[in-house]
Formats: sequence, structure tokens, C-alpha cells
Amino acid sequence: MHILTVIGARPQIIKAAAVSRAIANMFADKVTEHILHTGQHYDTNMSQVFFDELGIPQPEYNLGVGSGRHGEQTAKMISGIENVLLSRHFDGIILYGDTNSTLAGAIAASKLHIPIYHIEAGLRSFNRSMPEEINRIVCDQLSTILFAPTQTAVDNLREEGFFVEHPTLSRKVVNCGDVMYDNSLHFAQVATRQCDIMQRLSLQPEAYILATIHRDNNTDDPQRLEHILSALAYIAHTDNVPIVLPLHPRTRSKLSVLHQNIINSEPLLHLMQPLSFLEMTLLEQNAKLIMTDSGGVQKEAFFFERPCIILRPETEWVEIVQHDAGIIADADYQRIIDAYAQLAHRHVSFPPLFGDGHAAEKILQTIVS
Ligand code: UD1
Repeated sequence: MHILTVIGARPQIIKAAAVSRAIANMFADKVTEHILHTGQHYDTNMSQVFFDELGIPQPEYNLGVGSGRHGEQTAKMISGIENVLLSRHFDGIILYGDTNSTLAGAIAASKLHIPIYHIEAGLRSFNRSMPEEINRIVCDQLSTILFAPTQTAVDNLREEGFFVEHPTLSRKVVNCGDVMYDNSLHFAQVATRQCDIMQRLSLQPEAYILATIHRDNNTDDPQRLEHILSALAYIAHTDNVPIVLPLHPRTRSKLSVLHQNIINSEPLLHLMQPLSFLEMTLLEQNAKLIMTDSGGVQKEAFFFERPCIILRPETEWVEIVQHDAGIIADADYQRIIDAYAQLAHRHVSFPPLFGDGHAAEKILQTIVS
């Protein structure tokens, strides 16, 4: 069967690696994958580096859409994906997560009656001011098979009526585990063998914090960004701990003079360009603690048994908080500092909530059968 895989943003390229690997290793005789890159992310360190490191085939189609307002960007993608879907026969389309590329793929394929396989279905933040929440709700509604990574995701879909039998609607929910967990297991040792980022940054295991900030509500609100950076500077200074902060281009472009001053006032705050997947994997494995507003990095913190401070008002990955492995601190200066103090002394357990590392295999088995 011929499947179109749509990717566009950094985390989708990473998730797609797990499925492409499983196709190459186990399903090559049954599935031919055609990769379409929307071009949502286009900087080398936001896109190409992941193809190089993760061994994903180069995209057969690249729409080169680039950045833009949500409607404008999504519309260009819908049109480009539709053209590709019309250019030959496809038996289905694989969509990942909740970005504008996901939304565009869902709209284009659904109008052409092409089965949609949504990987990372059922996640909900219940915060509709997030563009991602809109994208995931729409994509789930249009999907044929919804691959949920956790029991919480399955429960969300049940609440929304996805398990109710319907005479004409045929859709299926599968709890398959998380493809990102497949990847973390696969690449943890590769990162340790191949990466020298710890030496380059003079970092010692368990003696630094890794932080990422890229959500629009943090980057586009100068006060929230100021609170986060001030809390990071305070923690670095009082605990004498380096904080490594690989910056998404969106965040870097929003730094004001005030933000720069906060950063410059604390020599232990290390800003840098976005990292490759292997570099990030290695820094996650060895960090004392992780602070992030990214969904993916929250999970990777859990996979590598690192406590995590969540720089958002809520999370879709509620089980991380329920198991005391993470604390939601939002962009609140005092809550971030308090969370750090709490997590430093907390005994945390990390049960296997995200599957068994074979999510991609289960997904392909389901699609093929
Ligand atoms: C997108 C996803 C988000 C995901 C994130 C991962 C949506 C709505 N959001 O957010 O869910 O967590 O990707 O990184 O799809 N930019 C560059 N170079 C690039 C890409 C972006 O400079 O290669 C800058 C541009 O100024 C752009 C801004 O980043 O306007 C935002 O990029 P965009 O793709 O709109 O959203 P992300 O914030 O990356």
C-alpha cells in the first residue's frame, strides 16, 4: 500500500523517524512510504539536521511553505497537499501531533476521502487559546484510525464519543504507546557514543539544568518571557548551577533589551542555537532537571527519568504530573522557583506509561491489517 506521510515541524520529523524505521525493518514488502515536507520549519537546525541524524528518507515532496499567519500558512499547505494527493493513488495519509501541518493534511485528505491515520491522537489541554488544541481536535474528528499514545488520550476520546457505534462513520481508536518513546530508547546509546556536546559545553552529569521555551504564549508575551528568564537566572545564581537554553528561532526573535539584560546578568545562563536530536537526547539523559514548555521535551524528561518543571498553565501529558515527576509552574516567577525547590528533594517514580517502545510496529500492523 502507498502511504503519504506529512511532516513539517521539528517534532514531526522526529516522530516520523520511528515509523520510517519500522517500515524499513519490518514492513518494506507491504508499505511504500512517500514523505511530504510542508516546509513549516525550514532552518537547517530546525529541519535538515533531523533527517541527517535520524536516518529518515529525504522527502519526495517539499512544499516550501515557510512561516506565516496561521490561516495563510495552513491554506498554502492544504493546497499543496491536495495537489500531491491528486497526483497519484494513496491508500492513506499519516499525520503526526497537532501542528498546522497536521491540520492541513487532515483537511486535504478528508475532502478526498483518503483514510487518515493520526499518530498522537486524543491529547487535550482543554485550552482552546492554544493553536495546537484546535489542530488536534479537528484532526481527531476527521481521522479514520486514531493512534492514542496513552490511556488518558483514549479516555479523552471516549468522553468525546469516539467509541459510540455509528451506522456510517467508521473509525477506530488504538492505544499503541508513544513513538517518541520508541525513538528515545533507540537513540539513547547512539547519542552517548556519538555526541560530544557535554565536553564542548563543559557539563558534568546531573550538574546542570536543561531548559527550552518556544510556545507562542510565552514568547509573544514579554512579561511571561521576563518571568521565566528571571526565574532561570535566580535558580542558576542561587544554586550555582549552569542552565543550558537552546533557543527556538521564534524565542530568539522576541528577546527585548530587558530580556537580554537578564540573560547577560547571569553567566551561568547559556543560550545557544537549537540542538540536534542526538545532542538534545544526550543533554536530557544527563540533566539534573528539565524546564520546558514543549510537550515532547516533557515526555523525554520522563523517559529519561528526569524531573520536569512545566512552563505552561496546563499540560496534555497529565500523567507526568499525576506521578509527581513534573510540576506545572506556568510562567510564574515564584512558582518556578518553588517547583525547583520541591523537585530537588522529591523521590519520583517513572512507571512505563508511554508503551513498550514498539509503538511504530503496532501502528503499522494496524494500518496494514
Ligand atoms: C510549531 C507548532 C508547535 C510545535 C513547534 C515545534 C503550530 C501551530 N505550532 O510551532 O506545536 O511545538 O512547531 O517547534 O504548528 N521559525 C524560524 N525558522 C524555522 C521555523 C520557524 O525562524 O525553521 C520562526 C519564524 O519566525 C516563525 C516562528 O518561528 O514565524 C514560528 O514558527 P511556526 O512554524 O509558525 O510555529 P512554531 O512556534 O515553530
